Amino acid sequence: MKNLSDLQKKDLEHIFHPCSQMKDYEQLPPMVIVKGDGLYVEDEFGNRYMDCVSSWWVNLFGHCNPRINAAIKEQIDKLEHIIFANFSHEAAIELGERLTAVAPKGLNKLIFTDNGSSSTEVAIKLSFQYHAQTGNPQKKRFVSIEGAYHGETIGALGVGNMDRFTDVYKPLLREGVKVKGPDCFNCTFGKKRESCNAECFIYMEEYLKRNGETVSGVIIESMVQGVAGMRIYSPIYLKRLRELTEQLNIHLIVDEIAMGFGRTGKMFAIEHAGVSPDIMCIGKGLTAGYFPMSIVLITDDLYRAFYADYSEGKSFLHSHSYSGNPIGCRIAVETLKIFQEENILEVIKEKGDYLRKAAAEKLKDIPYFGEYRQIGLIGAIELVDIPGDRAGYEIYKIALKKGAILRPLGNIVYFMPPYIIKREEIDKMLDIFIESLREYLETIE
Ligand SMILES: Cc1ncc(COP(=O)(O)O)c(C=O)c1O
Repeated sequence: MKNLSDLQKKDLEHIFHPCSQMKDYEQLPPMVIVKGDGLYVEDEFGNRYMDCVSSWWVNLFGHCNPRINAAIKEQIDKLEHIIFANFSHEAAIELGERLTAVAPKGLNKLIFTDNGSSSTEVAIKLSFQYHAQTGNPQKKRFVSIEGAYHGETIGALGVGNMDRFTDVYKPLLREGVKVKGPDCFNCTFGKKRESCNAECFIYMEEYLKRNGETVSGVIIESMVQGVAGMRIYSPIYLKRLRELTEQLNIHLIVDEIAMGFGRTGKMFAIEHAGVSPDIMCIGKGLTAGYFPMSIVLITDDLYRAFYADYSEGKSFLHSHSYSGNPIGCRIAVETLKIFQEENILEVIKEKGDYLRKAAAEKLKDIPYFGEYRQIGLIGAIELVDIPGDRAGYEIYKIALKKGAILRPLGNIVYFMPPYIIKREEIDKMLDIFIESLREYLETIE
């Protein structure tokens, strides 16, 4: 490898980066970011990049947001951490009040976890233990849909269905049941997601009606299967799922880790369906891209099943060292305040409308175009039959040189910028993608 900076050399000496084939770094060494500023990050050579993927879907209000920076500084001088068993603190208490006020109806209790995957683990353990303690120990199965992604710890992989993440670990997993779910781009019922009646729910319905007695919970990403390729589906699917799970005493566990906090245009994506789950996992945007923290929200009914004399052995004995960390809680409080005080859902609507119009105009003639889909401030282009083994990855590399971080999912290129993006930056983001696609195609022709 040539022309590496000292920092890049030292990085490669010691660091094994996530979700990477490290050999790829021979061609594209780690970009050492030294500064963040709103939509942009800057590397050690002074190159600036638009963060079109919100740094793995976490950033909401831009890098180094002044309000959140100030909140952290205030908190850190007050209290940095305290064991959360038996102890509490103001930031967590304020967060409890604010979050339950905006969460779907009935979700009234918070369990603090550290990241999305650990919240999935808690959701599974809680649901299972609930049924064991309420006279249904036979309810042990978890059901999810094809293309599901709920994190990468062993339990989370068990309810996931992305082969490239799970295959190698299959012998270790306790696998849940996977049923065919919505696949609106290739709908086998010949319907459109905007006007269908979630006909594809039939697969879930058949499975649950036959096996409901042994099912503890169904876990599902609300409205959009992110990692599977920003697959948007009809809210009717969620509505029907809620009705049936309620009838069969099965927990509806919604994973809002990626889609919560305004991404789909509602505070929580499940709101599109107008229903409430029993368990909801949130993370990522909860701390606006600043801090690894997640929360599992549950109903009072679930909570009560664990409330008993200690000797009954019904406690939920799950903890993380940093559960309820005050800095994380303070950031989450500030995030919720920003939503309220700066009308963020309105902002998302306005920017989402602009993105939709701009994308319709600019993408109409691009080659290998399959579909453009959008909800809230997430837009995705599915490229079909594009030549080359790693077209998405090659487009990503070209776009970086042009100053945009795109990071496609296979051959699905998506835009998921922080909400502070401006109209002209939306145009630029789309233009960079189109130029990068064309440049890629020239290199292989
Ligand atoms: C829907 C969904 N669930 C769970 C996770 C896992 O979250 P984390 O990476 O914080 O463990 C992700 C991460 O992308 C996700 O998109």
